[in-house]
Amino acid sequence: MSLLFVNACLREGSHTERLARMWLDRRAYGGKVTELTLAQLDVDPLDAMGPNPLAAYSAGVAATDFSHPLFSCALEFAQADEVLIAAPMWNYSIPAKLHAYLELVCSQGVTFDVDEVGAYVSLCHIETLTFVTTAGGGVIDPLDDHCFGYVRTLARQFWHVPQVECVAAWGLSAPGTDVDALLAQALER
Ligand SMILES: Cc1cc2nc3c(=O)[nH]c(=O)nc-3n(C[C@H](O)[C@H](O)[C@H](O)COP(=O)(O)O)c2cc1C
Repeated sequence: MSLLFVNACLREGSHTERLARMWLDRRAYGGKVTELTLAQLDVDPLDAMGPNPLAAYSAGVAATDFSHPLFSCALEFAQADEVLIAAPMWNYSIPAKLHAYLELVCSQGVTFDVDEVGAYVSLCHIETLTFVTTAGGGVIDPLDDHCFGYVRTLARQFWHVPQVECVAAWGLSAPGTDVDALLAQALER
């Protein structure tokens, strides 16, 4: 049993990280918890050149040879029984570093595949994915949510995760806000 905690909180004293740790304390997971702190890692997107070239990704997928280091995030993710992702809302989306990480996780042949009729087949066995987030502004229309909405789409379409949940605290930037109270309320919802 293993829980992968993808910590994409990039600010010192992050509210989102605090909420995620409160959630973890409450979850009291019995198995192994592995934390991946993106702030301390080089996570480069797939690109024409650089450390994670698209050509190396495509060649690895075509040959089912995942020995290139760019596949290490996906190989680790595919082993998880449960996933916790913590990230603040940035510009109605997720921080670019988390996006780059998820781009690498979405490696065909490692975390998902495509069957003979073009349908996505999950290569993960994640039972639950929880996304913890905080935002400065108020609750938005789900159609404008490219934060949890994006992660949920990956979880459902590629990895077929049966339980995808969001723990969110909104409105943290409003003057006079009791942040502690909002974080505590987010856990109760
Ligand atoms: C670069 C950046 C972009 C942000 N974009 C949004 C946004 O689009 N909507 C919003 O409600 N808050 C936005 N915020 C405010 C953060 O979501 C809010 O302060 C959050 O609680 C920060 O979490 P943290 O303490 O974990 O870093 C943004 C903050 C930063 C630094």
